[in-house]
Amino acid sequence: MLPVMVEQIGLISSLMALAWNLCITLLLLALQQSCFLVTTALSNVHIVYMGDRSRGQNEKQLVEDSHLDILSHILGSKSAARKSILYSYKHGFSGFAAVLSQSQAKLIADIPGVVHVTPNKILSLHTTRSWDFLHVKQDIATGILSRGQSGRGTIIGVMDTGIWPESRSFRDEHMDNPPPRWRGTCQEGNFFYHYHCNRKIIGARWYVKGYEAEFGKLNTSDGVEYLSPRDAAGHGTHTSSTAAGVAVENASFMGLAKGLARGGAPSAWLAIYKICWATGGCSSADLLAAFDDAIFDGVDILSVSLGSSPPLPTYVEDALAIGSFHAVAKGISVVCSGGNSGPYAQTVINTAPWIVTVAASTIDREFPSTVILGNNQTLQGQSLYTGKDLSKFYPIVYGEDIAASDADEDSARGCDSGSLNATLAKGKAILCFQSRSQRSASVAIKTVTEVEGAGLIFAQFPTKDVDVSWSKPCVQVDFISGTTILSYMEATRNPVIKFSKTRTVVGQQMSPEVAFFSSRGPSSLSPSVLKPDIAAPGVGILAAWSPASSVRSLTDELPPLNFNIESGTSMSCPHISGIVALIKTTHPTWSPAAIKSALVTTASVKNYYNQYIGAEGAPYKEADPFDYGGGHVDPNKVTDPGLIYDLDNSDYFHFLCSMGYNNTAISMLTGSPIRCHKSPKFLLNMNLPSIVIPELKQPLTISRTVTNVGPINSTYIARVVAPIGISVSVEPPTLKFSSKKLKMKFKVTFSSKLRVPSRFSFGYLFWEDGSHEVRIPLAVRSVVREFLC
Ligand SMILES: *[C@@H]1O[C@H](CO)[C@@H](O)[C@H](O)[C@H]1NC(C)=O
Ligand SMILES: *[C@@H]1O[C@H](CO)[C@@H](O)[C@H](O)[C@H]1NC(C)=O
Ligand SMILES: *[C@@H]1O[C@H](CO)[C@@H](O)[C@H](O)[C@H]1NC(C)=O
Ligand SMILES: *[C@@H]1O[C@H](CO)[C@@H](O)[C@H](O)[C@H]1NC(C)=O
Ligand SMILES: *[C@@H]1O[C@H](CO)[C@@H](O)[C@H](O)[C@H]1NC(C)=O
Ligand SMILES: *[C@@H]1O[C@H](CO)[C@@H](O)[C@H](O)[C@H]1NC(C)=O
Repeated sequence: MLPVMVEQIGLISSLMALAWNLCITLLLLALQQSCFLVTTALSNVHIVYMGDRSRGQNEKQLVEDSHLDILSHILGSKSAARKSILYSYKHGFSGFAAVLSQSQAKLIADIPGVVHVTPNKILSLHTTRSWDFLHVKQDIATGILSRGQSGRGTIIGVMDTGIWPESRSFRDEHMDNPPPRWRGTCQEGNFFYHYHCNRKIIGARWYVKGYEAEFGKLNTSDGVEYLSPRDAAGHGTHTSSTAAGVAVENASFMGLAKGLARGGAPSAWLAIYKICWATGGCSSADLLAAFDDAIFDGVDILSVSLGSSPPLPTYVEDALAIGSFHAVAKGISVVCSGGNSGPYAQTVINTAPWIVTVAASTIDREFPSTVILGNNQTLQGQSLYTGKDLSKFYPIVYGEDIAASDADEDSARGCDSGSLNATLAKGKAILCFQSRSQRSASVAIKTVTEVEGAGLIFAQFPTKDVDVSWSKPCVQVDFISGTTILSYMEATRNPVIKFSKTRTVVGQQMSPEVAFFSSRGPSSLSPSVLKPDIAAPGVGILAAWSPASSVRSLTDELPPLNFNIESGTSMSCPHISGIVALIKTTHPTWSPAAIKSALVTTASVKNYYNQYIGAEGAPYKEADPFDYGGGHVDPNKVTDPGLIYDLDNSDYFHFLCSMGYNNTAISMLTGSPIRCHKSPKFLLNMNLPSIVIPELKQPLTISRTVTNVGPINSTYIARVVAPIGISVSVEPPTLKFSSKKLKMKFKVTFSSKLRVPSRFSFGYLFWEDGSHEVRIPLAVRSVVREFLC
């Protein structure tokens, strides 16, 4: 069965290229026009959210009937209601998705019991590559991540593009049967049957109604997509195997990064929720349906590598925030990617306090590639080219010097699409300089491929994020080397260059560093909640892939890829999901907040060489909490944090109150009446494992409570590294825990020594007992009080 299918895909690879481009164009168009769509009633999927399932409605059928009643009331008949409804959400929370006009949506919003009505939204996956040029990427599980029971007994739900069940990463030989508490199913569809679930993949479902209502029926006849949990894109296979893939020997990407690939929690079970399609798009109506089912099915952890870009919707309007709220309220940890919009401040997304938001860091692996100039000078760059041998000199030209007659020099310098004269470029190596609009080398690679250049040198800001180039060598060098090459070319009559084979080098570089693309805090929605929470590997990650992926649409006949190298916060998120499974296995009763606290307080801020971890994108800068939250995850410490900063559901309700949300709306969200004290101070006093004060005007005292999860009789002493210009005192300075005192409260007072406004400055508060170092980050910005004349 399977080989036949793969071959079919091979035959139609050129068709796929066409369809792929068309798909992407349509998606981009649709995205650009989405503001029109909303007003022209073309975008007609709405999500009607009705909060927690109210007590009386225990019968699921009754809940669904009540949704149909509301719809019939507005649409005039039961049959119209049945036609319009896409999903009835009834397990984790109540609500539905339906096709509605603007005016119908307005009417429904006024019905008692409806919290709010929002238009369906399209979210995207968090790889660094733009989806118009999908490259092969893969998550290579770094061996450090496995420990102890390796996640045995824990179920990780992955909301993504599905899974390639035949991958070696999902073999189930050493897996246990699913536990009796598991209520999930194996939903069949195109090329996916019940036997594709096993003791590793214990459940699989797929959701397409919201997506199709927005973009029309998916065309599956060309093999670019499957209406089933089967992954046509690769992304979901990559994230799933990163979280919980079993060990695979000799995994590599075309021979690069060769070694043992395995997930963070190789003994954990996987439950697959396919909500994203090979276009990279996912609909929020489908996402909510997946949350609803995952809560019912009984997952322990949800790994969600997707999101929408800023501006951030409010927490009561954001499908991901709502779905995750209900999951966390039922004890499920939700781990999300923080986005790839760095290195700019305030770009982080998925910032609700109940979510674990993950930044991406580099790992200690590089793919160096040497170029030799005609004058015998040797320069070092990076490449993921694995093609044929290249041991000869090629003439080299500068993009700007071979601009097409109708292209401007700027775009030719960056080798932008259509900017080069094919006659002049053919057979030559081309030097391109990254332009301000380019995030990576991918567009330049495509251009040089199209004009049949021999290869390219892409000069750019320094980063370890390397693009895959299939048919032509692409060596990425920094601007210094790029300028050296340009100087050589200008000083030489017939400049030439030689490429060489890429190697894999491990363990010799400054790492980890926060990746340039990783989105940065503070949160634009709730700046006093530190985001991101934690950093994990997300650059050049090798993991399992879907051999059906459209990667091959690019150029030539590649063998179907079973492993691939990818970058993005999409890749760092499942690393944390896997590590959360290790914590969950060791401490099954810990709340999602306790687990997050353990991740944050044990994270490391120094690298293997005891130097502070840096951040790409801001030159030679040490990373700060807005880059990586508590720091870089340390899987060897997470299960023994000593103290935890815990939270329960009522803290989240009070947080929403303090955010200024409607009392009634929150009561519906929580399913029980709640009295809001709209105290802005609560935002600061929420028991998070961090303290962020966006505006320190006068001395301010904040409280926190820690719970001892280490040895019963422990004494912890406070130590502060104060932010520059801020004085910090802790009261009491010592905490003595005993069997009677498991939880203790303390106060931290901040005052500014500055007389001028300042930027955020950063520090740390430690509680130390001689064996544990419980560290939380501090971020404070002092503002000068205004003096009125
Ligand atoms: C689906 O794709 C195939 C191959 O690209 C094409 O021939 C067919 O017309 C498409 N069908 C629809 C309904 O668009
Ligand atoms: C891995 O590759 C090496 C060298 O290519 C080979 O000797 C070894 O047998 C392979 N191991 C497995 C399990 O395939
Ligand atoms: C480069 O090195 C080769 C071999 O070492 C030598 O033959 C050649 O003359 C050198 N070229 C220049 C320009 O130095
Ligand atoms: C490319 O360059 C050649 C030679 O200079 C010229 O004849 C041709 O018109 C150019 N084509 C374009 C599209 O710029
Ligand atoms: C808050 O909710 C109540 C009850 O649903 C409603 O009457 C009121 O208009 C809401 N206020 C705002 C500001 O939305
Ligand atoms: C903790 O201290 C109490 C009082 O000193 C003592 O009775 C108890 O045995 C100690 N418990 C442990 C686990 O050391």
